[in-house]
Amino acid sequence: LDNGLNAKPAMGWNSWNAFGPTINEEIIKDTADRLVALGLRDAGYVYLNLDDGWSDLKRTADGRLTANKTAFPSGIPALAKYVHSKGLKFGIYADAGNMTCAGFPGSLGFEEVDAQTFADWGVDYLKYDNCYAAQQQWVVDRYTAMRDALNATGRPILYSLCNWGVAEPWLWASGVGNSWRTTEDIEPTWDNVVKLLEYNVGLSQFAGPSRGWNDLDMLFVGNSRLGEYHPFGPFYQEQRAHFALWALFKSPLFIGHDLRNLNSSFVDLLKKKEIVAMNQDELGVAGDLIWQQGTRKIFATALAGGSRGVVLWNLQTTQSQYPLSNITVFWEQIGLGGSQRATVRDVFSERDLGVFSGSFSAAVAFHDVAVLRVTPVEGPLDDSWRPW
Ligand code: GLA
Repeated sequence: LDNGLNAKPAMGWNSWNAFGPTINEEIIKDTADRLVALGLRDAGYVYLNLDDGWSDLKRTADGRLTANKTAFPSGIPALAKYVHSKGLKFGIYADAGNMTCAGFPGSLGFEEVDAQTFADWGVDYLKYDNCYAAQQQWVVDRYTAMRDALNATGRPILYSLCNWGVAEPWLWASGVGNSWRTTEDIEPTWDNVVKLLEYNVGLSQFAGPSRGWNDLDMLFVGNSRLGEYHPFGPFYQEQRAHFALWALFKSPLFIGHDLRNLNSSFVDLLKKKEIVAMNQDELGVAGDLIWQQGTRKIFATALAGGSRGVVLWNLQTTQSQYPLSNITVFWEQIGLGGSQRATVRDVFSERDLGVFSGSFSAAVAFHDVAVLRVTPVEGPLDDSWRPW
């Protein structure tokens, strides 16, 4: 969508995965404080998004949405002001049907008044969900109506389509929103993370700064349930695979964890500078699958300046007697010359591993990733290669 808010995938925090519909202003204000104190705002997580459950069950007498007075006694404008005072942006949630997914008033037929309400409140981001619309009310029309209403307010509001349940949204959504959901809701299990990622293979060509972004849904980094299928398994490695791949695919990155009990190792993970930099890279090329054999997969993307971002993923389904899997990326697979010399950098440890000709191999642990930045030593640096 050409509203000036497409340049990079959005980053921030969203209330849904941690709090569901029982959210309130104290939690949001506390989260704002913590985004700053934990260094997450400065790492790029600037949107603080209030998801479903903020609204009253009824509109006001003059037909406007209004917040639940028990949970939000100070009202949304005051809350948005607080969030802004912390150097953050404020996001809210509404629905393109008759009710939100949690049963609060929907915006279908109220697009203009609701868009104006959000603009008046100082909203910077709208997540627009897809529950409770009749089949004959075409999804593209419903989402376009809110796009036009937001544009008409004159306030720049990032428009995030939560169009779950719709086949192939990437074919139309780039003209309507800044990002679009490609899958059903994420679940905090390893199998689900793998499933969502695999579903997005082949979609990188539909994303970019002139279009918008495939949204793989909010992060489950920090959630102890992600490792539950493998209670003795490499839980941290699964989390960093999840994070690195979401970043490489140029998904919007929204933290979904309660910041009051986010373990510091996950705060550090979310702040990994060079992973975030891959997501926020100027070139805006989404990563994609470039090779697979059995349970070994390679994903890659082009980065500004001629580097490549490469993720080697070990997807073994059992933690066998071979916990390490050797994976080799050949330069020709990532658009470099077969015998070209290139510096390989380990993105997680932020260390150069050396200069390599033609290929690089890493031993990758069970469910883990090696994340590499490969930069040709001699120019000309060519960033025209694409993973599709
Ligand atoms: C849908 C969305 C979720 C969340 C809930 C809120 O399921 O996909 O991300 O916003 O609705 O009810």
